[in-house]
Amino acid sequence: MKVTVVGAGKYGSTTVQRIAESGLADEVVMTDIVEGLPQGLALDMMQSRPIEGFETRVVGTNTYAETAGSDICVVTAGLPRKPGMSRMDLLEVNAKIIKDVAKNFCPASPDAVVIVVTNPLDEMTHLFRDASGFPHQRVMGQAGMLDTARFEHFVAEELGISPLQVEAITLGSHGETMVPVPSQVKVAGKPLTEVADDATIEQLVQRTRDGGAEIVALLKTGSAYYAPSSAAAAMVEAVAGDKDEVMPVCAWLTGQYGIDGVYLGVPAKLGAGGVKEIVELPLTDAEVSALRGAGNAVREKCADLSKLGD
Ligand code: NAI
Ligand code: 2OP
Repeated sequence: MKVTVVGAGKYGSTTVQRIAESGLADEVVMTDIVEGLPQGLALDMMQSRPIEGFETRVVGTNTYAETAGSDICVVTAGLPRKPGMSRMDLLEVNAKIIKDVAKNFCPASPDAVVIVVTNPLDEMTHLFRDASGFPHQRVMGQAGMLDTARFEHFVAEELGISPLQVEAITLGSHGETMVPVPSQVKVAGKPLTEVADDATIEQLVQRTRDGGAEIVALLKTGSAYYAPSSAAAAMVEAVAGDKDEVMPVCAWLTGQYGIDGVYLGVPAKLGAGGVKEIVELPLTDAEVSALRGAGNAVREKCADLSKLGD
């Protein structure tokens, strides 16, 4: 199993570390435009192997030659947000980077499954798919796993219980139109709606929606990467292990939830070859309507993308 991670910044390098330490890949290639950065990080990670007890080779490079024949690729290349910026402020600059990555990576790894994480996530996933010409099921985005983990964390902290006792799901876009889904949240097996009042639930939903911005404001430079890299690595693991695991991912919709022709966060079965099936949960009418609203917002932004030059 060969995995490429494009971008050796905070998100990329922590993702490489998680994948390498999990032992699921024989080789992880990390490529970045900054000379020496991926090579230095790769050397450092390789030197942790005797202590951590893994054998995965980590290769750092500034080209794409070493990525040839990859089974899976995680695309993290791009700028992160600064305090006060929305993910949308990154649209134009990151669009250029995404097109460049697709052009350079895809020809030598024509069968790869690609997981995009660059922001704005839903639009960059759409753009990578178009630029690659890959089938839609082989290109997906990571956001829902992260947003769901944040929702679960906030619920657990509010109720003073272990995060492992909370099961939640967050759908929609990775942005203003994120759709945390209270109707599907279970706390130690009980519906959240039975153990918390509406005002508390609304405050947890809003904090989840603002979860990325809260960390950006604290860090002052750069954005979150520990939970984000856990999310991407879990998706890599599901694909690499052909696990048929249902996860919230940014996937191409063809009529599910009454939404057609747009990338959006939905529950999907992941395995070899990427997205095997979109799962339709019994959402409330308000949740379905929020999901459709998110789909419309992403569709509009993708139309703006097509107006940008090369
Ligand atoms: P970072 O600034 O630490 O790293 C970005 C890296 O991309 C840099 O090392 C840069 O040299 C590299 N890069 C730029 N252009 C490139 C190109 N053409 N080819 C290869 N590498 C290139 O940023 P960080 O924290 O790693 O975040 C990366 C992206 O992930 C950002 O767009 C950020 O907004 C996004 N993100 C997405 C999340 C999600 O849930 N989808 C969560 C957290 C971050
Ligand atoms: C996050 O949610 C900024 O998308 C990034 O942390």
